[in-house]
Amino acid sequence: MLPHLPEGFTAVVAGANGGIGSAILQSLLSSPQTGHVIAVSRFPLVFEHPKLDSITADITTTTGRQALCERVNGRPVHLLFNAIGLLHDASHSIQPEKRLEQLDEVSFAQVMYINAAIPALLLAALKPSLQGKHATIIASLSARVGSITDNGYGGWYSYRASKAAHNMLLRTAAIELKRLINSRLFSASIPALRTLLSQSLFKPVSLPKSYLAQSSWRNS
Ligand SMILES: NC(=O)c1ccc[n+]([C@@H]2O[C@H](COP(=O)([O-])OP(=O)(O)OC[C@H]3O[C@@H](n4cnc5c(N)ncnc54)[C@H](OP(=O)(O)O)[C@@H]3O)[C@@H](O)[C@H]2O)c1
Repeated sequence: MLPHLPEGFTAVVAGANGGIGSAILQSLLSSPQTGHVIAVSRFPLVFEHPKLDSITADITTTTGRQALCERVNGRPVHLLFNAIGLLHDASHSIQPEKRLEQLDEVSFAQVMYINAAIPALLLAALKPSLQGKHATIIASLSARVGSITDNGYGGWYSYRASKAAHNMLLRTAAIELKRLINSRLFSASIPALRTLLSQSLFKPVSLPKSYLAQSSWRNS
């Protein structure tokens, strides 16, 4: 499944209740190569599995990240998969903007915080368990619309900007961690897939098998 990682590897999945996060979690649990998965989400997962250690915590808070670190308890983490992201949130009146007049400072700050700051803060919190001699893969989901050169349509100011910032933060972390970690760090830019985040907003596409490899960068 993941040839860079050892048999029985330990994974942490953040955003494990989301559309993509839950699919990654299921895939990891069904692989014989996976030893143990620590899955973190704000709401409890509705299933159990012998390899699954689920934790209900909001890692967008310092307390939540501390709770995750306590659960990891200093053990080596071989795979960190971050599937947290925010495009719209009706309960906080957050919608992707179509025009400049729709920019709202509170919504903008929240989208930047969830999509850009949190992946970096998560990396910082788990750094002690990621560094060392063991092989590590760090993956964090970006979005194709975060590409400046690919921006042919405009709109979605906050989301686009937050994913561009995400990419810069992950790239910068990759440079720092390369010296400390036997790592491969991916910022995966993906097109639309049908999940709660994307439904009714745009048309999902089928991913060619080679797409992720072509549209991601890695530090080794
Ligand atoms: N679906 C697509 O078409 C698409 C395209 C390009 C990029 N992406 C990116 O892929 C990632 C996953 O997207 P998805 O489609 O799986 O979306 P999703 O089903 O809406 O899941 C989003 C995840 O983000 C977490 N989250 C959202 N707002 C949060 C908040 N305020 N505080 C804490 N956690 C929050 C949720 O955590 P809980 O598990 O705790 O609920 C959830 O797991 C995102 O980064 C998204 O930008 C998706």
